[in-house]
Amino acid sequence: MSDPFLIGDTMSGGYGAGPNILHGCTIAVEKGEIAVIVGPNGAGKSTAMKAVFGMMDVREGEVRLGGEDITALSPQARVAKGMAFVPQTHNIFTSMTVEENLEMGAFLREDDISGTMGQVYDLFPILKDKRRQAAGELSGGQRQQVAVGRALMTQPTVLMLDEPTAGVSPIVMDELFDRIIEVARTGISILMVEQNARQALEIADKGYVLVQGRNAHTGSGKQLLDNPDVRRTFLGGT
Ligand SMILES: Nc1ncnc2c1ncn2[C@@H]1O[C@H](COP(=O)(O)OP(=O)(O)OP(=O)(O)O)[C@@H](O)[C@H]1O
Ligand SMILES: [Mg+2]
Repeated sequence: MSDPFLIGDTMSGGYGAGPNILHGCTIAVEKGEIAVIVGPNGAGKSTAMKAVFGMMDVREGEVRLGGEDITALSPQARVAKGMAFVPQTHNIFTSMTVEENLEMGAFLREDDISGTMGQVYDLFPILKDKRRQAAGELSGGQRQQVAVGRALMTQPTVLMLDEPTAGVSPIVMDELFDRIIEVARTGISILMVEQNARQALEIADKGYVLVQGRNAHTGSGKQLLDNPDVRRTFLGGT
């Protein structure tokens, strides 16, 4: 069987000299698909994302992108290979304008970035209206748009999002998920952590339930939504 486009394969590891947080955890996403990681607080969802992005030592296991072992690469080197990561917190520069945030996202690029910026403004029209405003003055949902837009400025093949809908209203969440689906349709792989498990699994091609640094359940979004055990334990019953 051929490798998924991006895979963190049976990863174990932790922070610094600390104990393992991940215990043989596997996360993968195919080209142009949406993979969603859900699970209780402290399950290691953000840690799994950081492991895939090279921000945590993977002591056992591998990360492969397009079949290439990238386990030893720095986050910067992974960005150069087409990976973009929007962390759970502190994911924008609040004192800079919206447009400056987007420009910062493209700092590795030496070509003309105006086309990509136009695409980001097409995806999130409100950001164009507010492009001269400090990002810190925007609403929570608009800030998340800035964070996603900034990541898209690198023209990634994989977009990793840690709780992109945290703290936003249900309507704004739906809207953001629609935009994320749109991004995936352009061929970009989406790997995201979500607290809004039910809604996220509804748009997921693949879902992962993590518990205590281990894969508890894996399947299509629909399979997980239909799984009685997953429903009872993670989706609030019924
Ligand atoms: N930088 C760090 N150094 C040491 N331990 C950490 C660090 N970050 C997280 N941990 C520990 O790793 C475990 C998993 O944390 P992680 O943030 O990955 O969970 P999570 O599933 O993302 O939780 P949440 O839903 O609250 O975002 C926790 O026990 C946490 O205390
Ligand atoms: Mg987290």
